[in-house]
Parts: sequence; C-alpha cells; structure tokens
Amino acid sequence: MTQHAFGLTMNHSLTISGYNTRLRPVRLADAEFILHLRTMPHVLGTVGDTVPEAAEQRQWIESYFERPNDYYFIIESLQGQSWGTIGIYNFKGTSAEWGRWIIIPEIMAALPSAVMIHQLAFDVLGLTELRGEVVSNNTKVLSFHRRFGSQKVGVARHSRMIQGKWADMVQFTMSCTQWPLVYKNLHPLAEVAGGTLTMSDLK
Ligand SMILES: CC(C)(COP(=O)(O)OP(=O)(O)OC[C@H]1O[C@@H](n2cnc3c(N)ncnc32)[C@H](O)[C@@H]1OP(=O)(O)O)[C@@H](O)C(=O)NCCC(=O)NCCS
Repeated sequence: MTQHAFGLTMNHSLTISGYNTRLRPVRLADAEFILHLRTMPHVLGTVGDTVPEAAEQRQWIESYFERPNDYYFIIESLQGQSWGTIGIYNFKGTSAEWGRWIIIPEIMAALPSAVMIHQLAFDVLGLTELRGEVVSNNTKVLSFHRRFGSQKVGVARHSRMIQGKWADMVQFTMSCTQWPLVYKNLHPLAEVAGGTLTMSDLK
C-alpha cells in the first residue's frame, strides 16, 4: 500500500502525495496553466466564470495568498507535470467546500485527487464536513459524487450566475464519520487509477 506523505508547515504550503499523484500549493507561476485549464471548452460552465488574462489570474492568486482559510492545489505527477487543480474553501466553522476541480482529459487522477482532498480535510485540517456543489447539468460529475459516496442534500435553484445564466447547484456533503468507510472502499480503486496496483492485485 502506498504511504501518504503529509507536509504541513503553514497555510498554503500543505502538500499530500499518494497514488503516483501529488497535490501541491498553487504558485504565482501557475497562472498560465490555470487559465488554460479554466478556459478549456468542456470546462466553461462547469466551474465559476474565470478571468480572461494571465495577468488577472496572477492577481487572483495574489489575493488568494492573503486568504488563510483557502487551500488551492495543483494536481501533478510525482515528476512535477501539472495535471489539474482542486481546492478547499468557503469555510463555515469546521465545515468547508471542495471544488475548483479540473483535470486535463485522459489523465486518470480523478479518484486519487478526490480521495486525497478528503484526507487533507479530515485527517490534516480536522474538518467535520466537506461540502460539494455541482452545476445541475454536469451529469458526469454528479455521477462521480454519487459513486464516491457523498450524500445529496439539496438543490439550490438559480444560485450562481455562470456563463451569463443562473445555474441550479446540486449540493453534496461528506461527514468525518462517513469518511473512514468511504476511504476503505475507495483507497484500492484509487491505487489502481494511480497505477500503484492493478485490478488483479485486488482479487
Ligand atoms: C471533474 C473532473 C476533474 C473529473 O475527472 P474525470 O477523469 O472526468 O473523472 P471520471 O468521473 O471520468 O472518473 C474517472 C474514472 O475514475 C473511476 N472512478 C471514479 N469514481 C469511481 C468510483 N466511485 N468507483 C470506482 N471507480 C471510480 C472510473 O474508472 C472513472 O471512469 P468511468 O466513469 O469511465 O468508469 C473532470 O471531468 C473535469 O475536469 N471536468 C471539467 C470541470 C468540472 O466539471 N469540474 C467539476 C466542477 S463541480
């Protein structure tokens, strides 16, 4: 089984690796990559609207550095190749939201990155709840949340303006008490997705 290496020195320097995948803090130099990700045609409309220029993306990252309860990660290979982004933000006490989740198509990092963001939330930050919000027509990601074991708790009608339209947001939650069983079930599948185990190892 893969060991997870936690590094925690201060906000914005939190790192976790496992499943041949690492979540490391976003840096200013990631602005172009983030802009590229967020403007991919299939991404528009699935996440909040983005800024049009790298200079504005750099400003956004600078303002993010000032927000202590906001964790924004690059999903990358252990060799440092950028694959995507993911984050934890919108804290309400010991509950927070995870999202800003985008991965370059064809990279098998969905399950590894989703498992590790929950590990960070529950095992490192000590949160009691992790919330998720998905645009109601994002059927692929709605299905991912269901398969992951998150509980659907409601739909917020017309709650976010995205790409010029009011979007309905489907709301999910995972509690720290549910997480250990979910982790037990998903950890081997994340190992397979990350290439640290094969399906035949699971039999
Ligand atoms: C969201 C995003 C990062 C997910 O990544 P993805 O690679 O598309 O994720 P998938 O749902 O295809 O999952 C990848 C594979 O992991 C495996 N997997 C995922 N969840 C699983 C589960 N619970 N059990 C077993 N296998 C699972 C499956 O093999 C799955 O492929 P399959 O659906 O063809 O069986 C990506 O689609 C993306 O960047 N989308 C655009 C932005 C977006 O919608 N972001 C989310 C905003 S809320």
